Amino acid sequence: MRTPVIAGNWKLFKTSGEASELIKGLIPLVKDTTGVEIVVAPVFTVLDRVAQLTSGSAIKLSAQDCFWEEEGAFTGEISPKMLRDAGCSHVIIGHSERRQYFGETDETVNKKTKAAIAAGLTAIVCIGETLKEREDGIMNDVLMRQVSKGLEGLASFSNVIVAYEPVWAIGTGKTASDGQAQDAHKFIRQVIMDKFGNATAESTRILYGGSVKPENVKGLMEQPDIDGALVGGASLKADSFAAIVNFGK
Ligand code: 13P
Repeated sequence: MRTPVIAGNWKLFKTSGEASELIKGLIPLVKDTTGVEIVVAPVFTVLDRVAQLTSGSAIKLSAQDCFWEEEGAFTGEISPKMLRDAGCSHVIIGHSERRQYFGETDETVNKKTKAAIAAGLTAIVCIGETLKEREDGIMNDVLMRQVSKGLEGLASFSNVIVAYEPVWAIGTGKTASDGQAQDAHKFIRQVIMDKFGNATAESTRILYGGSVKPENVKGLMEQPDIDGALVGGASLKADSFAAIVNFGK
C-alpha cells in the first residue's frame, strides 16, 4: 500500500504573515484527514515560523531546494542538515523551474538527493518533459534519463518520492488528462522497476504535478499509478489546498 501524498509547493510566495494566515486557515480544514500524508513547502525564510505553527498537527514541512554539502564556504546555500534543524522532514529537489532558471541538471539532482537522504530527509524528486520534448516524441527518453541519472546509486529508496510534472502543465491551467498522466506514471514505474527492482517500483510514491485543482484531483487520484499530487497555485489558499488534501471525502 502506498500512502497518498498531497504536497503544496508555495514557490516564491508568502511572507511570514501571509504564511501564518495560510497555515492557521489550513490546520482546522485537515485536522480530521486520515490516510493522506500532507506536506507544505514554504520559502526558506518562513520555515521556522511554519514549523512552529504546524507542530502538533499532521502537516509536514518541506523545503523547496537544498545544497549537497553539509557546511562550508558556499555563500547563499542551505544544507539538508540545516533544513532538518529548521523542522523539515522533506525537501523538493530538481523542480523544473530550478532546472530551467537555475541550471539544475540530473547530476546536481543526484548529488542533492543523496545528501538529503543521508541527512534523514525525504526527497521529492521532480521530473517531467517540456512541450517540445513531448511533441518531438522524446518524452520517454527524457523521463528515463531523469529517473536513471537523478536516482542513480541511492543508498535507499524508502525516503524518495518522485514527482512527475510535465513542464507544459505547470502554472498554465493545462492539466495532463487522467490518461496522459497515468501513462507517464506507469512508464516511470516501469523504468524504476527495470533500473532498481520490483520492490522499489511497487513501494515508490509517484506524485503528479501541473495545474492540480479541487476539480481535477479526484480523476487523477483514481489512476492506479498516481500516488498523490504536488500542487503549486492551488496550494496558496487554505480552502483549495484542503479540498485537494480531502480528495477522498
Ligand atoms: P501549478 O499547480 O501552479 O501548476 O504548479 C505545479 C508545480 O510546479 C508544483 O511543484
